Amino acid sequence: MGARGLPRALPSAPAAALLLLCLVVAPAAARGHSREDDAPTGTGGGCNSGGGGTAPPRLWVFGDSYADTGNLGDLGRELTHAWYDPYGDTFPGRPTGRFSDGRVLTDFVASAMGMPTPVAYKLRRGAAQGLLARGMNFAVGGAGVLDTGNFQRNISAQIDLFQAQAQRGTPSSNRGCAGVGVALVVVSGNDYSYAADKDNGTSAAIAYIPTVVRQLREQLRRLRDEAGMRRVVVTGLHPLGCTPLFTRPLNYSGCDPLANAGAAQHNAALRSVLAALDPANRTFLLLDLNAPFAALVDAPPGGRFAEQRRPCCEALAADGYCGQQDDDGKRMYTLCDDPAEHFYWDDVHPTQAAWAAVAEAFRPKIREFLLST
Ligand SMILES: *[C@@H]1O[C@H](CO)[C@@H](O)[C@H](O)[C@H]1NC(C)=O
Ligand SMILES: *[C@@H]1O[C@H](CO)[C@@H](O)[C@H](O)[C@H]1NC(C)=O
Ligand SMILES: *[C@@H]1O[C@H](CO)[C@@H](O)[C@H](O)[C@H]1NC(C)=O
Ligand SMILES: *[C@@H]1O[C@H](CO)[C@@H](O)[C@H](O)[C@H]1NC(C)=O
Repeated sequence: MGARGLPRALPSAPAAALLLLCLVVAPAAARGHSREDDAPTGTGGGCNSGGGGTAPPRLWVFGDSYADTGNLGDLGRELTHAWYDPYGDTFPGRPTGRFSDGRVLTDFVASAMGMPTPVAYKLRRGAAQGLLARGMNFAVGGAGVLDTGNFQRNISAQIDLFQAQAQRGTPSSNRGCAGVGVALVVVSGNDYSYAADKDNGTSAAIAYIPTVVRQLREQLRRLRDEAGMRRVVVTGLHPLGCTPLFTRPLNYSGCDPLANAGAAQHNAALRSVLAALDPANRTFLLLDLNAPFAALVDAPPGGRFAEQRRPCCEALAADGYCGQQDDDGKRMYTLCDDPAEHFYWDDVHPTQAAWAAVAEAFRPKIREFLLST
């Protein structure tokens, strides 16, 4: 519903050079809940159906910057902030293409499943075989369900890529069963930012909801019926009107009600699509981000975050960005002392601490869903 992108326009050259960056995996052991032996067994990844159901789960991720762990090419500081400081300051201590000071949604969902973060598609070369056997992340910052004018792979193209990989039997040890597993689909509003930019603000974005949800329905159906996913977790929209992008003009004093109403409308439409696709709730889980976000960013003071809406990394100029520098390399942003005190890291993305707090709300739901038959 936004006036601007999420993240901001992020054009990507199709032939952007493959980066020789080390893949950084959230070390599962660093978080108490994520030991391998905690993993739900027989969930999702059970390719060897005869084998007693102990195959570890595989996670295939599709979506945007809330889920991206390195798929956006490095096209320079201005276009791809997540590859530049201060992104990644908290974890792992340098930028890794994650849109936060540290871990993002994908890391926490993998952790809830008791598995390491799946490798980002773009960083697959050189990744350990063991990790490649656990799925892959195709999500890329700036993407939408439909095209968003950023030249990022839309979700349908991300699924195409998955199917091409699966057909090739990557990795070889999983030949023929790479399609089996759990899908995570993360849609955070780029389609609506695009519509709002192109047309007439929030009202144009709201008018676009049926188109977006219809297309999303088709991609969810494909994941189940064509890609053979056992379980599909799809996120609902967070309260878009509480992001700093909307609240900065209000001096962070409150949220934009129209944008929040738009997010609620999208969520209601998505809920009815899932009810029609899967009346018994066997395959699809709507992962509610709206309620846990709202409880943390639109609540009375004194809660978990001292700063509910003011981002930790704040551009000096209203049209600037976190990480911006002037021609002399001077910072054009302010950085807070402790990102853990802030829900938002930049103008649209949560801090690692925020994702951790939101994950506390969804971890039991994910575990219960994946363990159900
Ligand atoms: C998604 O991207 C593909 C490849 O660029 C394009 O052919 C297709 O029309 C797009 N789909 C939608 C729904 O925008
Ligand atoms: C744009 O939005 C305004 C109010 O938000 C409305 O009055 C106007 O008719 C809209 N224009 C178009 C072309 O939709
Ligand atoms: C914005 O809010 C801060 C406190 O959060 C306050 O110190 C400041 O004066 C406010 N600025 C304006 C222009 O209202
Ligand atoms: C499926 O989930 C929806 C939403 O959580 C719920 O309203 C509905 O009752 C569930 N249906 C079944 C058969 O459990």
